[in-house]
Amino acid sequence: MPKKPPSSTDISRRHAVQAAGAATAAFAFSRKLEGAPAIHSARAASTTVTYAVIGTGGRGQYHLQHFKNVDGGRCAAICDIDDAALKKASEIAPDKPQGYKDYRELLARKDLDAVLIATPLYTHYGITRDALLAGKHVFCEKSLVFRPEEVHGLRALCAERPKQILQVGLQRRYSEFYQTARQMVDKGMIGDVTHAYTQWHRNPGWTFRKNNWRLFREYSGGLVAELASHQIDIADWMFGMHPEFVTGVGGIDYHKDGRTVYDNVQLIFRYPKGQKLLASYISTNKHLSLFQGSRTEFGEVIMGTQGTIEITVGTDNEAALGLWYYEPGPKVTDAGKAKEKAAPASATLLSTGLGGKPLPILLSKDQVSDKDSFLSREMKFARRWLYLKGVMLPEEMRNPVDVQLDEFLDSVRTGKRPKADLEVGLADSTAVMLANLAMDEGRRVYFDEINKMGKK
Ligand SMILES: NC(=O)c1ccc[n+]([C@@H]2O[C@H](COP(=O)([O-])OP(=O)(O)OC[C@H]3O[C@@H](n4cnc5c(N)ncnc54)[C@H](O)[C@@H]3O)[C@@H](O)[C@H]2O)c1
Repeated sequence: MPKKPPSSTDISRRHAVQAAGAATAAFAFSRKLEGAPAIHSARAASTTVTYAVIGTGGRGQYHLQHFKNVDGGRCAAICDIDDAALKKASEIAPDKPQGYKDYRELLARKDLDAVLIATPLYTHYGITRDALLAGKHVFCEKSLVFRPEEVHGLRALCAERPKQILQVGLQRRYSEFYQTARQMVDKGMIGDVTHAYTQWHRNPGWTFRKNNWRLFREYSGGLVAELASHQIDIADWMFGMHPEFVTGVGGIDYHKDGRTVYDNVQLIFRYPKGQKLLASYISTNKHLSLFQGSRTEFGEVIMGTQGTIEITVGTDNEAALGLWYYEPGPKVTDAGKAKEKAAPASATLLSTGLGGKPLPILLSKDQVSDKDSFLSREMKFARRWLYLKGVMLPEEMRNPVDVQLDEFLDSVRTGKRPKADLEVGLADSTAVMLANLAMDEGRRVYFDEINKMGKK
């Protein structure tokens, strides 16, 4: 039996609705907003970056844990409108931060260099805007913004404040596996990249629990914002461009429990050179036919004319992984020519035995260079031999979540542009909004439509 949706008397939900109203009011482009913090210029960070976390639910607490693996920061404040979330976070957080229920009070603190925002999607823009106006550097979780007007509003605001860092929580950009995959694409190692396939399948997916903002359209972009956003960003990165249009089918077909976001989603994005991204999100089956059956749920496939990359960022318990499938062309020898004419190309591939065997993607630590000592070279060869035999797999030196936090603090100190910067985040959010629109309206939605949306 599906659980009943929360009633209008549900206090927590009502609270969320009020917060939504506040956020909506807050994204007017005028800066003269009631309750908005005074405008400040960015504070130059000393060696130690003093930061706060706003929104200490699931993701905020996760970041507080991961900040413990990062040097050079001091957590001075945490904020959540929910007492239980704030209490839990204060037990986890490093540095005994002060707790706040109103983020505006927190932003008024002069000693804070930066804030990390991990609140529900519908609040991202309002809080990010207020933080930037208060002179803080911002790390905001994905999906960066929720509505078309917020895309334009945030771009305009950041243009006025170029010294402030804005980084988005797209952690795959900080993974050595993904960076290596991108280098492989650049070097032509998988030929012309023509297709990507991404999947994030769960069973049973999101269940209906009280106050779950993800299930309601007024607060959430559903599966596209919460899951697809990571993977669309990867397709953009690997193709080196943004989509031209998107089309798709979504439905509330299985979890008829009062939610208003789709519980299954199939999307096709077309890119300017004809490349396609096929992206699938379902809540009824978590089988994954990638990585030789060793994982479930999610992964990305990048397909080129000469090879394929299967890649996943993994979780805290299952490390990131990248496999490379080499796709040789049919061998054209004199003796083979007649045979090839008779046999389909796939048969030739199978007979060479090369088509289906993956090679692990080698990270820089396993690549041999002239600078290696004899011992280090031998160690690398030994490790590579073990990888090839499937005895062990290459592993990143650090969790990409730690790396993204580390690099955020570094950007705050040095002004260095983040890998997942404003434009990466806005393109990603645009893709999320337009994909949902394409499913709602049952049509192709072109990406340049965003330029006309949300403008008066
Ligand atoms: N990068 C990733 O892989 C990843 C993973 C999970 C979640 N996220 C993102 O993190 C964000 C938060 O997700 P979550 O799973 O932690 O949700 P959650 O519901 O567990 O936590 C959100 C918290 O924000 C608090 N909150 C709401 N409005 C607030 C306000 N105005 N001021 C202060 N606190 C407020 C809520 O009380 C709640 O505790 C979402 O945007 C989500 O997409 C990213």
